[in-house]
Amino acid sequence: MAIIDAIEAIFLAFLAVIANLFAGMIAGVLLVKEIVFKVFGLNKPVPHPRSILITGASSGIGAELAVRYAKPRTRLILVARNVTRLEKVKKQCEEKGATVEIASLDMSDSKAVKSYMEEVDKRVNIDLVVANAGISMTPPKEGELFSDAAQRLFDVNVFGVFHTIAPIMEGMRHRGRGQVAIMSSLSGIFSHPNLSYYGASKSALVAFSRHFRPVAAEQGIRLTCICPGFVETPLVQEMRDAGGKLPGFAVMDVKAAAKVITKGLERDRPVIIFPAIQYWPVHMTSTMPPFIQAFWNYMALKYPLAGSRQS
Ligand SMILES: NC(=O)c1ccc[n+]([C@@H]2O[C@H](COP(=O)([O-])OP(=O)(O)OC[C@H]3O[C@@H](n4cnc5c(N)ncnc54)[C@H](OP(=O)(O)O)[C@@H]3O)[C@@H](O)[C@H]2O)c1
Repeated sequence: MAIIDAIEAIFLAFLAVIANLFAGMIAGVLLVKEIVFKVFGLNKPVPHPRSILITGASSGIGAELAVRYAKPRTRLILVARNVTRLEKVKKQCEEKGATVEIASLDMSDSKAVKSYMEEVDKRVNIDLVVANAGISMTPPKEGELFSDAAQRLFDVNVFGVFHTIAPIMEGMRHRGRGQVAIMSSLSGIFSHPNLSYYGASKSALVAFSRHFRPVAAEQGIRLTCICPGFVETPLVQEMRDAGGKLPGFAVMDVKAAAKVITKGLERDRPVIIFPAIQYWPVHMTSTMPPFIQAFWNYMALKYPLAGSRQS
């Protein structure tokens, strides 16, 4: 046992040294980039979007983004299933002067989602779509592997996103402008072993966004992938309720998260990834040789991160 603990300690120290070196290097590159962008005036922010559609806007990050974007002469279209919660967010946004409409839709109902998105984009001409709705899932129990629950997770987290953005991007293509934000997760870069389905669904979004961004750009559309670490929302609370152990210092306040996201979208970042304290270890692990990743997984299993039973 003592040997394993010693290996763990050496491994963590090794990770810390590499992380510091890497962080220093990246900070240097970013500094130079900022200076070059400032000098050549390349830092022009994306104009404030006037018509914004957000899915999963009834709680958590989606609701906070809606409130942050709410201002006079801005139209918000808020989509989720729970109308009571949507009405509450609508009221908050209207108090800030925005015009708001809500729509109750289940993201797994592909036909309904596609036809609503087509209709609303024709009527409103969406400037920014944030495909944010998503669910989590506990590790499958015996006999549950590749079950209906896994199918549903992918229907909501992956196909729900595609069915949301595709009709709107079609409209944006004709208009020659628009912005698309896809909500993935740090789990999409390297997941906890207990969240393998969730991680796989979010990885699909990271890969899609990375490869599709230049294609979208050719049509005048800005495409960004959002990869948050833990953010204090009902989804994270469900993880705790299901027995997940989340270190308090690593969970970000939802208002702070929404601020990082809106700032990143304003700058047209390819990827908005945060907070740094979680990003660096996750990113580094994803680039390391398989035996180190295996050790990481071994350690991660000591800190179970049960996802919620999806609702
Ligand atoms: N919180 C985190 O730590 C974290 C980290 C990384 C990524 N994310 C991602 O951020 C997104 C938002 O999550 P959150 O943390 O804000 O959790 P949340 O508060 O549980 O929000 C999830 C939202 O998605 C909606 N939703 C769920 N299933 C849906 C369905 N079938 N059809 C339509 N809407 C549905 C929910 O609304 P209804 O229940 O009313 O339908 C709710 O508005 C998710 O994609 C999540 O994976 C979260």
